[in-house]
Amino acid sequence: MPILFKRVRELRNYLESVRCDRGKNKLVGFVPTMGYLHEGHIELIKRSKLQNDITVVSIYVNPTQFGENEDYDRYPRDIDRDLAICNEQGVDVVFVPDDKEIYPNGFQTVVMVEGLSDILEGKFRPGHFKGVTTVVTKLINAVMPDRLYLGEKDFQQMVIIKRMIEDLLLPVEIVPVPTVRDKDGLAMSSRNTYLSEDERKSATAIYKSLLLAKEMVSNGERRMNTIRKRMEEFLKSHPHIKKIDYIEACDNQLNIKEEVSKGDRILIAVWVGNTRLIDNMEL
Ligand code: PAJ
Repeated sequence: MPILFKRVRELRNYLESVRCDRGKNKLVGFVPTMGYLHEGHIELIKRSKLQNDITVVSIYVNPTQFGENEDYDRYPRDIDRDLAICNEQGVDVVFVPDDKEIYPNGFQTVVMVEGLSDILEGKFRPGHFKGVTTVVTKLINAVMPDRLYLGEKDFQQMVIIKRMIEDLLLPVEIVPVPTVRDKDGLAMSSRNTYLSEDERKSATAIYKSLLLAKEMVSNGERRMNTIRKRMEEFLKSHPHIKKIDYIEACDNQLNIKEEVSKGDRILIAVWVGNTRLIDNMEL
């Protein structure tokens, strides 16, 4: 079984005691999550196990990254199931802090990446990335890992955390992990549990619309307007696809592109029934 910690101080003491082994420094890999673990999270854990001596997973549903009318209360939680998965995967340490541990009484400090946090997801979820960068900084400070494992599924989150790590001179290396998908292409997400059977079927249109865009680009199309229109048409031909928040293209630094080229990425946010899903694909 992995060792479980709820307190930062105990986690630090433990990691300090195992990190240095007869003068040799052990490498620590860190996988931050909000729990309800799935194959996507497991892929991050596997990478960390391969590349490090000690793998730490955090499970914390961070309240500050949810907007007032978002799904904080109904976000799926099952700590016993998560611990069993961590055990199966050979995770060494699981960190499960409570709110007081992460946000002590009277806290006033936030970490914010300006600019990048206001576009795409940030436009539709104001304050979301401020919550993400604040909690990830705290978690990094608690674990002090050598490597941080992040999924490309949340591409904007990854770019923003990369920027933050560079800007704040944090001594940690980011390892990006490609998106893990279900057999039918739907990107794995804890939020997929919200979908009804019919909605789940329609949700595969998100992945298919990205493939459609990729095909258009390999056939020579460059105009994002044309690509977006075609994707919207396709998505709207499916039941339960209620609303498209955005379909945008960007380069690896998240500069929005109207004329796309190979290596750019298309990012999409779609409402399937009452569930908001995001996905992206490299062109
Ligand atoms: P969560 O949604 O639990 O995701 C934790 C990590 O798993 C993130 O790096 C995310 O990109 C990655 N991930 C999720 N689904 C994936 C998939 N299908 N394929 C590959 N990787 C996937 O992202 C968060 O939590 C939070 O914002 C967090 C960073 C923990 C801060 O609270």
